[in-house]
Amino acid sequence: MLYGACYYPEHWEKNEWASHAKLMREANMNTVRMADFAWGVMEPEEDVFDFSLFDEAIELLAKNGIKTILCTPTAGPPKWLVNKYDILQRDRYGRPEGWGSRREGCANNAAYRYRSAKITEAMAKHFANNPNVIAWQIDNEFGCHASTLCYCESCRRAFCAWLKKRYGTIDNLNKKWGTVFWSLGFSSFDDIILPAANSCEPENAQAWSHNPSLDLEFRRFSSNSWVDFQQMEIDIIKKYTNAPVSHNLMGHAPDIDYYDLSRGLDFVMWDNYPDNQWGGSDYEYVSMAHEIMRGVKDRNFVVAEEQSGPAGWDCMGANPEPGQLRLWAYQALAHGGEGIIYFRFKALNYGMEQYWHGILDHDGIPRRRYFEIQKTGAELKKLEQYIVGKKNNYDALIVRDYPNIWSHSIKRHQRDFSYTELVYSYFRANAQLNINTAVSIGNYERYKVVYMPAYNVVDEAEIAKVTEYVRNGGTLVTTFRSGQRNRKNNIASTTLPCAFAELAGIEVEEFDPLRKTTEITGLVKSEAKIWCDIIKPITAKALCAYSNRWFAGRAAITVNSFGKGKVYYVGCDLTEPAQKELVRYISEQAGISPIDAPRGIEIIKREDFTILMNHNDYEETAPVTGTSLITGEKFDGKMRPYGVEFIK
Ligand code: GAL
Repeated sequence: MLYGACYYPEHWEKNEWASHAKLMREANMNTVRMADFAWGVMEPEEDVFDFSLFDEAIELLAKNGIKTILCTPTAGPPKWLVNKYDILQRDRYGRPEGWGSRREGCANNAAYRYRSAKITEAMAKHFANNPNVIAWQIDNEFGCHASTLCYCESCRRAFCAWLKKRYGTIDNLNKKWGTVFWSLGFSSFDDIILPAANSCEPENAQAWSHNPSLDLEFRRFSSNSWVDFQQMEIDIIKKYTNAPVSHNLMGHAPDIDYYDLSRGLDFVMWDNYPDNQWGGSDYEYVSMAHEIMRGVKDRNFVVAEEQSGPAGWDCMGANPEPGQLRLWAYQALAHGGEGIIYFRFKALNYGMEQYWHGILDHDGIPRRRYFEIQKTGAELKKLEQYIVGKKNNYDALIVRDYPNIWSHSIKRHQRDFSYTELVYSYFRANAQLNINTAVSIGNYERYKVVYMPAYNVVDEAEIAKVTEYVRNGGTLVTTFRSGQRNRKNNIASTTLPCAFAELAGIEVEEFDPLRKTTEITGLVKSEAKIWCDIIKPITAKALCAYSNRWFAGRAAITVNSFGKGKVYYVGCDLTEPAQKELVRYISEQAGISPIDAPRGIEIIKREDFTILMNHNDYEETAPVTGTSLITGEKFDGKMRPYGVEFIK
């Protein structure tokens, strides 16, 4: 199992390396990840390559039993490159991104692609036969700093060509997009625009002022541009070595279709910062991020950057409390992680990330956080057998899909509606009932319940699959704002919920994007604040109805028998307790046994044992007893603050 730290030899004096390597070795580490952003060191001038610093560092680390994951440095284009070539992305106003940070390059810019290919090829050739380079990482965090969408002329041209392949003729595109509206017809593919700022747009607005098909296709194209850029580097590396290739993804990040991005990778890595300058995340949110990362390839992953200290850019989040670093590592491993690489080994004295603390602070003296990571490393040697190659016993699936993320952000339905929050709320309800829940697309038949909240951009093939799943006895849960849009982001002429109408056995006759709180009674009691569908059950029966306002008495939540299965339709948003009760009911009906536990206790069922975590800073009792696989002793349910247990 990989256990280590991000280590940047170019940040330290050479005479410091040996003591760093020794500390890593003594902390039970076996891996470092390096060289992301080191372009300027490896190619100080155009076509002048020098890898000697990395050769030496890799060698010295290897002598300490530490292998290297080597990153291509293309997220950090050096100054000579931007001096000579205009590679900078353009924003919605056509302004070039300022250079001076990172990720400024445009995926479709010929010079950036050419220079990226050259450094990648030079590295691949140079390091291909180095036995201490055990894996490669392409670039760093595609889509970070909102850099997915670029409005430059190279992107426009590439977009036109991409559309031509998909639509064939311009008449077809005009028809499918409905460009007759407001005289937006294009006369040729070369004529097509990018959805940049236009006359309809208040300053700093997000994309919504264009034709919705143009907007959605541009999101797809932009995501695909990075997938394509990544593939370019993968292909180069694969010419020279069989070492596995990865990239570090960003959990919940919405801008790149991670199913597409991970297809070309041998395995997924991702960067996990539960508490930084921008806020602390609820543990369920972090668990969901891990599940998203496991779900994109339906395969276990490695954490490429795991938080190891107070973190931030101009100010910091909290210092991880005693036990928290260990807990966060196990949380990742409990949700499909197979390796932990901490960011970073030591805090740096200079540069933008001076405040992003590592395992060691600026003075380099091993203290509490170092010792906790060291101890966890020792413990993991024993527990590895319960981690590597293992899979949880999943009962439920949350479908989370990128075209839906994009479409819902282009047309938000109601000012407070958020697709990603709705999807998360169903994950959270399941997590609080300790129902192991995967986040992915497809393979429905493996799960007792499949949630497709606000699944609005409908892929016909996916609807056919889910229909088959329900017919064979599966349980589907879908909600308001589902089934209405096609893949071009246009609205169907059928009655809501359109593609789901037959499955759900209902018609939504009217709806109300809410300005007034609406009450719901029946199976659960709740309030809706965002949306109410006013439902007419056809073959379905009502489980809940509205109890105030002009549609009092009309159905709000329904269930329909379809084939051997069931379809629940939730026509409104729910309070957190009501949603939990609804999920409990649906789960029990589907043969799942929810487990109630105090908030903060997380229970993961894996093969024939259980992983327990206490996310609270106080003792709690978990409703599980048995024998601890960590200590071999009897376990009575008592969990220490931030405690972790493996119980059989
Ligand atoms: C990640 C990035 C790292 C480092 C870290 C802390 O997004 O991959 O290079 O910047 O965050 O900001």
